[in-house]
Amino acid sequence: MPKIVFIEPSGEAREVDAPVGLSVLEIAQQNDIDIEGACEGSLACSTCHVIVDPAWSARLEPIQDDEEDMLDLAFGVTRTSRLGCQIIMTEGLDGLRLTLPSATINMMG
Ligand code: FES
Repeated sequence: MPKIVFIEPSGEAREVDAPVGLSVLEIAQQNDIDIEGACEGSLACSTCHVIVDPAWSARLEPIQDDEEDMLDLAFGVTRTSRLGCQIIMTEGLDGLRLTLPSATINMMG
């Protein structure tokens, strides 16, 4: 089973099982990782924002325009930021490292 390592804002790393075909958001929710995902993956919020380790960023599917537009609204966006609901797990992403941003803005509020 592939794994994802989530780095909490505190710096604590948590490695979790990451079934192929699930989104990073779904995997986080199954493991009590604190990603909100207010719109449940429909690209209508930015609360699933994660920061991808630069070593991994180029190995993800390229970012789409609508994902980029949503990310613009997220707090603390970096060059390797993505929306967790848009990253779908594959075998090739085994070991993926993601940092959780320290805050999110909930546009659905
Ligand atoms: Fe809302 Fe990902 S959960 S955009």
